[in-house]
Amino acid sequence: MEKKFKRTLITTALPYANGPVHIGHLAGVYVPADIYARFLRMNGEEVLLVGGSDEHGVPITLKARAEGVTPQDIVDRYHNLIKDSFEGLGITFDVYGRTTSATHRKTASEFFEKLDANGEFIKKTTKQLYDPVAGQFLADRYVTGTCPHCGNTAAYGDQCEKCGSSLSPDELIDPKSSLSGAVPELRDTTHWYLPLDKWEPRLREWILEQHKEWRPNVYGQCKSWLDMGLQPRAVSRDLDWGIPVPREDARGKVLYVWFDAPIGYISNTIDCVGDDWQKWWKDPETRMLHFIGKDNIVFHCIVFPSMLMADGTYNLPDNVPANEFLNLEDDKISTSKNWAVWLHEYLQDFPGRQDELRYVLTANAPETKDNNFTWKDYQQRVNSELVAIFGNFVNRTNVLLHKYYDGVVPEPGTPALPDAEAEREVRLAVSEMETLIREFKLRDALREAMNVARIGNKYLADSEPWKVIKTDPERVKTIMYFATQICASLALAFEPFTPFAAAKLAESLGMDRLDWADAGNFHLIPPGRTVKPLPLLFEKVDDAVVEAQVNKLLETRRQNMLKNWKPDPVKAETPIETFDKLDIRVGRVVECEKVKKSKKLLRFLIDDGLERRTILSGIAAYYEPEELVGREVCFIANLPVRTMMGIESRGMILSARNADGSLVLLAPSADVAPGSPIS
Ligand code: 2FM
Ligand code: ZN
Repeated sequence: MEKKFKRTLITTALPYANGPVHIGHLAGVYVPADIYARFLRMNGEEVLLVGGSDEHGVPITLKARAEGVTPQDIVDRYHNLIKDSFEGLGITFDVYGRTTSATHRKTASEFFEKLDANGEFIKKTTKQLYDPVAGQFLADRYVTGTCPHCGNTAAYGDQCEKCGSSLSPDELIDPKSSLSGAVPELRDTTHWYLPLDKWEPRLREWILEQHKEWRPNVYGQCKSWLDMGLQPRAVSRDLDWGIPVPREDARGKVLYVWFDAPIGYISNTIDCVGDDWQKWWKDPETRMLHFIGKDNIVFHCIVFPSMLMADGTYNLPDNVPANEFLNLEDDKISTSKNWAVWLHEYLQDFPGRQDELRYVLTANAPETKDNNFTWKDYQQRVNSELVAIFGNFVNRTNVLLHKYYDGVVPEPGTPALPDAEAEREVRLAVSEMETLIREFKLRDALREAMNVARIGNKYLADSEPWKVIKTDPERVKTIMYFATQICASLALAFEPFTPFAAAKLAESLGMDRLDWADAGNFHLIPPGRTVKPLPLLFEKVDDAVVEAQVNKLLETRRQNMLKNWKPDPVKAETPIETFDKLDIRVGRVVECEKVKKSKKLLRFLIDDGLERRTILSGIAAYYEPEELVGREVCFIANLPVRTMMGIESRGMILSARNADGSLVLLAPSADVAPGSPIS
């Protein structure tokens, strides 16, 4: 690719510091950005990878309220957790800042002041929801009520999380303030607006004409926003958490989080490189890329660029490679429902196995459509790709090199046809990989990297050094020399994707730097060099590991069900005689066993005080029969005999049906003699 830029500034969406990051964030933003940054660095290009926490906005204040702590407590906790876990996954941020920093407050305030001084804002007074009891204006999220679409009684003023509808607070039935429970009323409030409509013609020209190469999902979303017509957008809010609007007449108002957050990219650059920051933001020879998820497209392609245009001294992004969403086990990832694989937990549960997650998230990246993460697929990809293809080839080569030559790279003879063919194929794969990375097609690029390992495996399988060693040992020297070169290309090809494995491989091969220009070089590792024994790069994921993760999710699903569960309405009134007609008693379990050929039924032999009776009960899924022997149960004694699976059942054992559908046996709370009546 023609390099018309001198350097690349890569920004990654600043995650809200109101919770940990999960695999959806990683697949959408941070893993791709890191791959891209690592690749450019391998090419000797000047790169700055900027990240940080988004520490303002309503999501933070809501979390703080829910926990009864201050917003500052929340952001301190999650900023550090997120920063450390990114580091654990090998995301190579040059800076990971925070929007509560002094630098950011100054930068964002000055940004506002300049636009304000230049008359770039409109001041408007509108009616907004106000909580008369709490004495404050309400963000949409602070209003709850019944969703007009699905009847969910806990819908928010901006969205119903049950049916996914976008809402405005006035659509809610019975709206209430979540601060005090009061019914919100409309009151006048004044805010500052950025007239996006002013920038619309330039945005149209810049995106729709000059950036036709952007991903179709990004281009398409921009086009539909532009076609709908842009409106002025408020850049301030009535909130007590955020950067105060720097104006005398704006007491109690803060900058809207979506105004200050993208400026965070600038502040964090300043914290990273000091006075040099302008070169990263204003030099036309710098290229800016925003890595984001699809929900952030409008802010990065329309709103932030309008802010930058209004300032007039900044570059605009060259590309915004936004990803679609990743689902988890067929359900939308949700922080509030705890439906996620959390990065910090993954790092604890899978120590030293960061590459596996990076690999799977890239191989399955939601680049063009939403994708699904499943633990089964994770296991499959690790075992049959990382272990069986990449790991297998490099470990086999290393073992043979040690077996035949004590690890010393042999002097090759004249290359034969298969050697030249392997070289040609590897060169083709790495050049294809480069093109794909530069086009942000990272999952396809990863496939090319894996193809290098496939080529290596085929080369060894076809050349059969383990056989040839007996007949033509000179030829084996050439084979092992070239197999070693393929390993070197693999270290290079995998450095952006699985950097931990790539580093181990490079270290064993004595490669002191990973320079992309060396990929596909079949004479990189010189004869005579001693290659160190290579530790296993990847290990198989056992069934038990997958099962443990799936069980964790099943437990989450169960907890969510319990949280949302509501008992059925009470049945119609009935006289006490109805109850009196039923003969309910306590019995002791004498025998209990599974009914053959039935998944549901247990056969009980019950001592009812008078005699022993057989009762069948459909609770086999919830109890082991042995654990029930000797226990007391409650049963209805005077029901007609019922035959099931050829066995006569004389009664019905009582149990409660839990919210998740499971059954729990009813039992007296202290010892009671068998036959005692229940009334
Ligand atoms: O959607 C989010 O999680 C936002 N916190 C992203 C902000 S990106 C940038 F502008 F800071
Ligand atoms: Zn709804």
